[in-house]
Amino acid sequence: MSPSVRIAPSILSADFARLGEEVRAIDEAGCDWVHVDVMDGHFVPNITIGPMVVKALRPHTTKPMDVHLMISPVDTYLDAFAAAGADILTVHPEAGPHIHRTVQHIKSLGKQAGVVLNPGTPAKMLDYLIDDVDLVLVMSVNPGFGGQSFITNQLRKIEAIRKMIDKSGRDIRLQVDGGIDFETAPQAIAAGADVLVAGTATFKGGPSAYADNIRRLRGG
Ligand code: DX5
Ligand code: ZN
Repeated sequence: MSPSVRIAPSILSADFARLGEEVRAIDEAGCDWVHVDVMDGHFVPNITIGPMVVKALRPHTTKPMDVHLMISPVDTYLDAFAAAGADILTVHPEAGPHIHRTVQHIKSLGKQAGVVLNPGTPAKMLDYLIDDVDLVLVMSVNPGFGGQSFITNQLRKIEAIRKMIDKSGRDIRLQVDGGIDFETAPQAIAAGADVLVAGTATFKGGPSAYADNIRRLRGG
């Protein structure tokens, strides 16, 4: 059991016709954050939801809303997602021309800033960002879809970023997203991750299974 590990179910795997109820169900089942995947059909080959849906879901949970922005351009939408009730805004360096400026913009909105690295993006990308971010997200699949297989070599990247974070002495969450299940969750935790995003593995089996799924992902 790892009490410090946070579980952030990705609502991409929820029943979209009952999203409010689904968010309430994962909240009651003991999730730590609610992970919202925002996709534009341009930066990634899928389209999901926008700030209106974040705003509509906000009253359904008191847990932090962790909004993963897979959109380009991204800067023009930060204010809208902040106003909609996001607590954490996570951005890809490839989604805009000036990632450092984007991080500062998020912080100026009073929100936590996350930077996300695609499987092909090196940890080195963080060298001059680590002093400013609240969260680093390592993608263990290529972004766009739920239900993909965990890319094992990302464990090495998690280990490298864990060292970088510890060296910084700052309070930074290290999150992993994609293909997290009961087998890969312990591997990601052992590599140094402390927040696990899980879509398929959380929502499998329907609402009566959510609490057990979350507990098992946490390592309990
Ligand atoms: C992928 C998304 C993930 C995805 C995870 O682009 O960022 O959050 O929903 O889904 P699973 O847990 O099913 O791999
Ligand atoms: Zn995500």
